[in-house]
Amino acid sequence: MAIARFSEQWIEQVKSAVDILEVVGRRVELRQTGKNYVGLCPFHSEKTPSFTVNPEKQFYHCFGCGRGGNVFNFIMETENLTFPEAAAKLAQEKGIPVPVISARDQKREQEREQLRQINQLAARYFYRNLRQQAGAQARAYLRKRGIRDELARDFFLGFALDGWDGLASFLRDQGVDLAAAQAAGLVAAGQRGYVDRFRGRVMFPILDHLGRFVGFGGRSITDAGPKYLNTGQTAVFNKGQILYGLNWSKEEVKALDQVVIVEGYTDLIALFAAGQRNVVASLGTAFTSAHAELLKRFCSQAVIAFDGDTAGQRATWRGIEILHSSGLQVRVASLPSGEDPDTFSRKHGTVGVRAWLNSAQPFREYQIDRIISQHDVETREGKLAASTELVTLLAQLTSAVERDEYTRYAAERLGVREASLAAEIQEKLGRAGVSRPQDERSALGNARGRTQQVLKKGLRRRTPIRPLEAGEELREREVLRYLLQEPDLLKALQARGVTAEDWQHPDYRHLFFSLSEGISDERGTAVASRLLSMPEPAASWEDCYRSFLVVLKKRRLRKIEEKLSHLENDREGFDVRMELYQLLKAYYAIYRADSI
Ligand code: UTP
Ligand code: MN
Repeated sequence: MAIARFSEQWIEQVKSAVDILEVVGRRVELRQTGKNYVGLCPFHSEKTPSFTVNPEKQFYHCFGCGRGGNVFNFIMETENLTFPEAAAKLAQEKGIPVPVISARDQKREQEREQLRQINQLAARYFYRNLRQQAGAQARAYLRKRGIRDELARDFFLGFALDGWDGLASFLRDQGVDLAAAQAAGLVAAGQRGYVDRFRGRVMFPILDHLGRFVGFGGRSITDAGPKYLNTGQTAVFNKGQILYGLNWSKEEVKALDQVVIVEGYTDLIALFAAGQRNVVASLGTAFTSAHAELLKRFCSQAVIAFDGDTAGQRATWRGIEILHSSGLQVRVASLPSGEDPDTFSRKHGTVGVRAWLNSAQPFREYQIDRIISQHDVETREGKLAASTELVTLLAQLTSAVERDEYTRYAAERLGVREASLAAEIQEKLGRAGVSRPQDERSALGNARGRTQQVLKKGLRRRTPIRPLEAGEELREREVLRYLLQEPDLLKALQARGVTAEDWQHPDYRHLFFSLSEGISDERGTAVASRLLSMPEPAASWEDCYRSFLVVLKKRRLRKIEEKLSHLENDREGFDVRMELYQLLKAYYAIYRADSI
């Protein structure tokens, strides 16, 4: 089976060549109403049309069953095709050549696939070891670190036995060419044959964001050898491009439009255990721009949550630069020295983690604080040295508004007059031959204009990026508006098991969270007043509530279905019966509407 990979450019080309009205029109009789077209939904049976097509935005949506998407989704759904198949079909219709994979590329891809298969086999071997007699010590180790069995299973944790060639002989028995296992970084050629590379270690399988097994991190459970041993560079594993955990977190990262970046495997696992599921780990401190580009495909905001030690602080500074120059909005959640996210979340639990991450600082503030903390600003020399570094930093800010804001912040922190600091920055800018900022009036302190601009910027930063299907956004919004007017309705939702997690729109999720926790903050208030200023909902509470539950049900079933198909496709042979059983139970509970 050839794996077709299309460039985004090519996909765009196909998308713009086809007209959704024409494609949908082949199956559905459409009638124009205003900007939209409506017809009888092809996905569920109905007598009055609730299926709409928006030719301007090139998407369809059914208000009855909640299905929707672009032209590719329509073909995928109606003709049961995969994305590449649907895209190729539309391209062929329009005479756009479908990129073919050269024989050489195909061979390379096959080789890579072989390495991934071997990694997966090895993961299975390690996984079993951990659960057998020989894994007792490793199980005790994990327990001591607060990693429960269930959590170990979620992350496919395993154990490499302390012998010489346990894995090598297992792989040989499975018919694996050990030269390929060596290329996968799992065994090494010794004088008397192949020997295991990982021994006496708890194994963390590393999957790429598509959920394919590409490498391992092995944690020594004694104090022997290096603390962690990781897969070296292979054809499928490049530390600079892989982020641990993205396969498990990407949906949540997308939904929240935010990623939390930690350093280590155990940090990520501990945060997941505390209910924070939008996390990736950078596998040590080498954060690269390839990582940043990868993350940018899923979200626009990053929170750096590295260890509280000096190495972590240095890595934070580098991380800021890389993430910021890739265009991500960056904040920093710092920890006291001696703590890392793992120890912190085990100490402070879900609520503590949430509060800590919510208190993440804009990275400029972090940088200013850090410069100041590196000097003894009680002494005159220290203060001068700090101010020189601050001036250098602040002079780099290209936006005058931003520079003003942070100049004020820095002056306050350092205990100097804002005007003096500002003057030095201006002098530095002048000396560097940089033309003076264009909006100099605001730089000189048009306070009101400045506040407004900052406010605007703040709001813009918070506007949701993730496109929600129009119908779903409406459902969420309507229900929330009733909630705001009739706080008692909150109980009805909570009784149905609705939590903040169920809201897809980040603003609405935030507002629901605030309402159910009884807290009021600036963002929640802003969202609430925006909602309240809209015209009355057209539908009754009962109708809104019912359609919302339909959406929720669908989302939850879809999630379970995704998990099930993931289990089928990617983890053949794994000991997944328990997990399958739990998923099926949840599925039928929802199906029978015991719960949403
Ligand atoms: P840390 O030293 O912070 O480890 O390194 P940790 O995650 O807190 O590990 P525990 O809690 O002591 O088990 C962070 C990451 O750096 C990489 C690993 O990816 C680790 O998760 N690392 C660390 C190595 O690759 N090799 C090492 O020897 C140490
Ligand atoms: Mn740790």
